[in-house]
Amino acid sequence: MLRASGLRKTYRTAAGDVHALRSFEHAFAPGQVTAVLGPSGSGKSTLLNLLAGFDVPSAGEVWLGDVAVHDLPERERAGLRLRSFGFVFQSYNLVTVFSALQNVALPLGLAGVPRRERDDRARATLERVGMLHRAHHLPHKLSGGERQRVALARALANDPAVVFADEPTGSLDSSTGALVLAALEHVAVDGRTVVLVTHDAALAGRADARLRLRDGRLESVEHGITRRSHDGAIERASERDPADADELVVGSA
Ligand SMILES: Nc1ncnc2c1ncn2[C@@H]1O[C@H](COP(=O)(O)OP(=O)(O)OP(=O)(O)O)[C@@H](O)[C@H]1O
Ligand SMILES: [Mg+2]
Repeated sequence: MLRASGLRKTYRTAAGDVHALRSFEHAFAPGQVTAVLGPSGSGKSTLLNLLAGFDVPSAGEVWLGDVAVHDLPERERAGLRLRSFGFVFQSYNLVTVFSALQNVALPLGLAGVPRRERDDRARATLERVGMLHRAHHLPHKLSGGERQRVALARALANDPAVVFADEPTGSLDSSTGALVLAALEHVAVDGRTVVLVTHDAALAGRADARLRLRDGRLESVEHGITRRSHDGAIERASERDPADADELVVGSA
């Protein structure tokens, strides 16, 4: 289980201190997609960077099971990221001179997986996201949604406990975005933790939980899915506040 307690981040700048995150507390449930929402500058990426060990908190703790992420030296945090975390970004960040397959195999190589096994696992992971038929394409010959699915396969190749996605559908139209989200939902069903930063209320409405940040503070936590079926009916309303669920559905129309 990924947990944060008393998490703070203060950036010191020439113009003064920026309190990007203040006293953040949350346990991220495995097997669920948790969406992190909030206006620009509210601390979403800061939170992701601290949870994933890219950065260290000014105060507070991040635990992955019994591993104190906040306390590890950079070398060990890098190792933890390779073994236990997967990342998907808005801009895909694929290596342009590598094929889809080589991109997915890259983190396996870094983690020391032998070449033969690396290729087999990369192929299997591409297949899971429906991209095996494009294994030998370079990224510029793929559509945006296809690139993002390759990026997702790369994030999954090491079988990580947690997948972090920062605006993964931000560059995609809504139907392609829905494909990528569906792939992320599958990732969570396998028992992984998915932390999804998004501005998209419709996307967030399909998550299992929603955290709202404002000015670096955790403003609300909401559980429950508001998935819409094709005929527009709500499949499962919010467990906490049905009025909220309606609002999200209206917002996604
Ligand atoms: N390295 C840094 N140095 C100083 N201030 C920073 C740094 N990184 C972020 N900030 C500030 O911290 C606050 C939170 O930034 P953060 O990137 O976490 O926001 P965000 O919620 O991800 O926004 P967006 O939706 O625009 O991506 C902002 O006010 C930002 O200007
Ligand atoms: Mg951000």
